Amino acid sequence: MTTGCIILAGGAGKRMKSEKPKVLCEVLKKPMLAWVLDCAKEFGFDRIGVVSGNKREMTESFISENYEGIPTYFQDEQKGTGDAVSRAEELIKSVDRVCVLCGDAPFIDADTLKNALALHENSNVGVTVITATLDDPKGYGRIIRDKSGKFTEIREQKDCSPEEAEICEINSGAYWFSSKALLEALPKLKNNNASGEYYLTDCVELIGNAEAYTSENPVIAYGANTKADLYELNSIARLGVLSKLMENGVCFITLDGIIIGKDVVIGEDTLILPNTIILGNTVIGKNCEIGANSCITDCVIGDNVILDNVKATSSVVEDDVKIGPFAQLRPGTVIRKGVKIGDFVEIKNSDIGEKTAVAHLTYLGDSTVGRGVNFGCGCVTANYDGINKYRTEIGDDAFIGCNTNLIAPVKIGKNATTAAGSTITKDVPENSLAVERGKTRIIENWEKNFLRKKK
Ligand code: UD1
Ligand code: CA
Repeated sequence: MTTGCIILAGGAGKRMKSEKPKVLCEVLKKPMLAWVLDCAKEFGFDRIGVVSGNKREMTESFISENYEGIPTYFQDEQKGTGDAVSRAEELIKSVDRVCVLCGDAPFIDADTLKNALALHENSNVGVTVITATLDDPKGYGRIIRDKSGKFTEIREQKDCSPEEAEICEINSGAYWFSSKALLEALPKLKNNNASGEYYLTDCVELIGNAEAYTSENPVIAYGANTKADLYELNSIARLGVLSKLMENGVCFITLDGIIIGKDVVIGEDTLILPNTIILGNTVIGKNCEIGANSCITDCVIGDNVILDNVKATSSVVEDDVKIGPFAQLRPGTVIRKGVKIGDFVEIKNSDIGEKTAVAHLTYLGDSTVGRGVNFGCGCVTANYDGINKYRTEIGDDAFIGCNTNLIAPVKIGKNATTAAGSTITKDVPENSLAVERGKTRIIENWEKNFLRKKK
């Protein structure tokens, strides 16, 4: 049996008041659509497609940049969820079972889809709707059952009678269809309802034999139509991620100001301190101390690392490294084992060798630095001449004196020393000392002359 997934992402989302299409609005800094796409990928469908519409360019370029090979089906006019699904007719025809998901309900998960599919197969129905019971069902489609308890249809909020509006079992917006039943029902949809839209939900009545898979976890149904909804989803997701990390052995003294993305992996006994934001595909090892006030995005961090007030982006930090306070690692940086980086240091696109020390007030850009190098205070690589960028290479055990300027391209040999205050424009051979300074001139009795003039 083959399975396909259609994710609906074409709606206007006016109430969100955003420049972006609603499905690209973010939960934990990740678009809601990406949450749903990740769930679909985890499930392992034979085919996945997305229906785009409103602000299609943004939705489609997000998909092509981040989810290669997933086709989009364009819905030119937003005439309802039923019309949207019919745009993906080609996908429906190519598989036996079709799962429809909403791009604005990010918490659906692969296990729920698997359990619902098992029910769908066992009960041999045309459609199985994933439902949930909510304390406040307002805004969702209600699950209508007959006297015997059999699920017969879905009624949208706008079309509910006062009695129907009291029903707390709702449609999550996730469904399993048998392709044949769906293909037969779609052309029969009518838009004679309160919204004037072709509702996918009307397929339940049209198909006739339907099941409801009721999820134990109502959160899977939560969708966001407004920024207030989005804030609520963020709060739920944040606590969800933090509890999972605690289950996996990560430590927190407080959760204040801590935001960690859903794809972040952190090892046992690592302590996360307040006001720390860890996002993207970051992986952090065991026994580290991250924060306070750190912002780590798309980094790979080893074991026993201390990052104190650090901003790091797209960089690698090996084991036993200490960085901070107040340091920045910009993209393309690799910090090798046992390195120490102190306060007010910025490193960009550089490889810093094992046990090197960059203690204070230093900028290293486009540099390859060996092992055991010592940088004094205030060293700068001048890597940019206003047009091009150049590299600096520093050999093992070199000693870069305080306030050295290294004018790239330049090479400092192994064991070489640069004298404090030197501006180095030529390569320095191994084991040598490079001094570039004016000679000190002494003008005597200066203070007296100065005082006399002043009188
Ligand atoms: C829909 C369901 C409702 C369910 C709820 C769950 C219908 C008629 N109603 O309501 O029963 O409880 O989801 O969240 O299906 N979309 C398109 N094209 C369109 C219209 C919508 O692609 O023409 C997409 C939207 O981008 C969104 C999804 O379909 O991702 C759901 O649409 P939305 O308008 O948010 O439906 P709801 O009113 O939430
Ligand atoms: Ca919705």
